Amino acid sequence: MTDELIDDFGRRVRYVRISVTDRCDFRCVYCMSEEMTFLPRAQVLTLEELAMVARAFTEMGVEKIRLTGGEPLVRRDIDRLVADIGALPGLSDFAMTTNGASLPKFASLLRAGGLERLNISLDSLDAERFRLLTRTGDLHKVIEGIHAARDAGFERIKLNAVILKGRNDDEVLDLVGFARDEGLDISFIEEMPLGDVSDHSRAETFCSSDEVQAHIETRHTLIPTTESTLGPSRYFMMPDSDSRVGFISPHSHNFCDTCNRVRVTVEGRLLLCLGNEHSVDLRAVLRRHPGDIEALKQAIVRAMPLKPERHHFTTDGDVQVVRFMNMTGG
Ligand code: 5AD
Ligand code: SF4
Repeated sequence: MTDELIDDFGRRVRYVRISVTDRCDFRCVYCMSEEMTFLPRAQVLTLEELAMVARAFTEMGVEKIRLTGGEPLVRRDIDRLVADIGALPGLSDFAMTTNGASLPKFASLLRAGGLERLNISLDSLDAERFRLLTRTGDLHKVIEGIHAARDAGFERIKLNAVILKGRNDDEVLDLVGFARDEGLDISFIEEMPLGDVSDHSRAETFCSSDEVQAHIETRHTLIPTTESTLGPSRYFMMPDSDSRVGFISPHSHNFCDTCNRVRVTVEGRLLLCLGNEHSVDLRAVLRRHPGDIEALKQAIVRAMPLKPERHHFTTDGDVQVVRFMNMTGG
């Protein structure tokens, strides 16, 4: 059996996002409902299982791993997992998406463990509004976390901002200004219809990347980069700054052709596409054949034909996929 991960449309999988917990210390309105029920521990992959999943993928040609959540830094002993994955040969890009609040505590440990890049979520620079959007978050902690990450030697730190109309769409220029002042990159993300959030109607709050871009261009010149991310992001440079500005437009279909990524949920479900339910239960394989990496690799290879040609998100507020983002990994 070949060890390359190639799907039925000739796309080779090089990038895996692994969710390490469904829990989070925030309750962002676009991500969770106010009252969330989290998974019992037995249903969540252990750190050893997570490390084995990461190793299996890198042995099959995956070069890039991103840890997500929930909030990865609320998982106990996350620094141990990071060090295990950071030591895997074959990995050329190792990143984490975090809300940043625990970075004052963890940034140095993560960097020492081999983590190379951080995406930090930041939707508002107004402390009160930040609290409303995250329901529990403390803006100052996050800013402190950003500085801790920079001091720990993380380069090209990227902010992620989900823009919601009527909530924070008036802060787009301020967020770009903050990124420029702090020497960070920033990406603006369209809200995705994941999970049935009760807080707002998605049809009303949807703010397209085109609108955000037009707004930024009232103040800054955006020069398209040719950089291909093989994903739903497009990046721009500015003539007078090192910061890059990205737009992540999951509603656009035109990246599906070159999609090179898969996801592993916190329960060990291998998801072949964010916008579809096709999945394979890797946890069952891990627990049926403990320690048997060949069995795991076979299960992953056999899952490849399930990768669908494209996703099917819409912007009309219909919930297409019932998973919440915290189960899937952002
Ligand atoms: N749509 C778009 N982005 C989301 N995130 C969480 N939920 C959603 C959603 N419904 C993003 C957060 C963070 C990452 C964890 O995922 O902004 O950057
Ligand atoms: Fe937590 Fe990130 Fe979801 Fe916010 S978006 S609740 S920080 S996992």
